[in-house]
Amino acid sequence: MTCSYLGILGKHRMKIAIILPTYNEKENIEILIPKLEVEIKNIKKHDFEILVVDDNSPDNTASAVNQLQKQYKNLHLVSGEKKGLGVAYLRGASYAIDKLKADVLIMMDADLSHPPELIAELMKGIDEGYDLVIGSRYVKGGATPDWNLRRRVISKVGNSFARIIAGMYKIHDCTSGYRAIRTSVYKKVNTKNLSTKGYAFISTLLYELFSVGARAKEVPLVFYDRKYGDTKLKSKDMMEFFFNSFRLRFKSSKRMIKFAAVGGSGIFVNLGIFTLAKNVLYPLYGRTNMTLLASSLTGDEISIIYNFLLNHYWTFRGVTSKEHILKKLAKFHIVALTSVVINNAVLFFLHIGFGLTDVVAKFIGIIIAFIWNYLLNVKWTWREKIQ
Ligand code: GDD
Ligand code: MN
Repeated sequence: MTCSYLGILGKHRMKIAIILPTYNEKENIEILIPKLEVEIKNIKKHDFEILVVDDNSPDNTASAVNQLQKQYKNLHLVSGEKKGLGVAYLRGASYAIDKLKADVLIMMDADLSHPPELIAELMKGIDEGYDLVIGSRYVKGGATPDWNLRRRVISKVGNSFARIIAGMYKIHDCTSGYRAIRTSVYKKVNTKNLSTKGYAFISTLLYELFSVGARAKEVPLVFYDRKYGDTKLKSKDMMEFFFNSFRLRFKSSKRMIKFAAVGGSGIFVNLGIFTLAKNVLYPLYGRTNMTLLASSLTGDEISIIYNFLLNHYWTFRGVTSKEHILKKLAKFHIVALTSVVINNAVLFFLHIGFGLTDVVAKFIGIIIAFIWNYLLNVKWTWREKIQ
């Protein structure tokens, strides 16, 4: 399925919306738009629309865009109140999806820091089948040549926060505003989760895209400093970003804590059912030497179903998946079985192989099996397949 899908992707003509948030970027936008138009004309495979998301800039960026619209039919403008970069991005993405019917969103700064030539690279990644392609300053070939030490340190520290605290180790540039996102994956993200108002939106969206299973790639970005106007990044944005990184971390550990709590309470359900079955239920049919095994398996099965339902409606609530609940239940069983295998393999390996006390070996087995069980359920049982 995935392979044939990737094959088709390359040939499929898509609608791409380039979203440019602007606040006082009149001089820059007048230079950028014609450059962009040339660039996208050279990418014949797809159809491009350019969308300027302006917040009633006092320098009249909007009227400069209106002027350019006479020449370029694929140029659009949405104006709104200034509430922050994140709010502007959200507005732009909704417009691009609802009105422009975009298959891919490209987010890009309007101050000429993001070279238009990189659009071809971003699109190449999308055509390869990635859902998210990031212009990255921190991979080989990427750079920020114009930045002074202070700016470099701030950006590096910010990135380390997103990588280490928020847990997005895999990505080297988590705060890059230059990226292409497949709309089908963006739509899976609950917009309620994108509540960060300012620049923190960039890392928040990244986090949320990963939690709905986005496949990502980074391409090198050489980021040049703006020539006209000033940066709009305020310390308020930095504070929001800082606290938000912890919020994101807590969000993912919260899920694991819930999962562990469900599993822990499941032990008691298992024991309760086991006792009930062994002493009350099965003796009704006469006590045989199968009673013990049957009661034990009944306890296991009921506790698996109990665990599944609680995880489905509580731990993983809001993780939308088109897959039928029974199919998920089947997957959950398979994961549980593999966990039992792992648990016992670790026990034997450590006890027999390494001479560790059996209880300690079993304990380590349980911990490893739990982590395995959790990760597999996150990545397989509840994660929506990317078609
Ligand atoms: N509509 C709207 N509303 N646009 C905004 C707002 C806002 O409140 N705030 C900023 N922008 C626009 C700017 O006009 C510009 O086009 C783009 O967003 C980026 O803003 P800059 O002010 O140029 O940001 P920067 O160069 O300091 O920040 C760069 O580095 C950050 C940290 O790595 C950008 O690449 C950011 O994307 C990046 O997060
Ligand atoms: Mn900038």
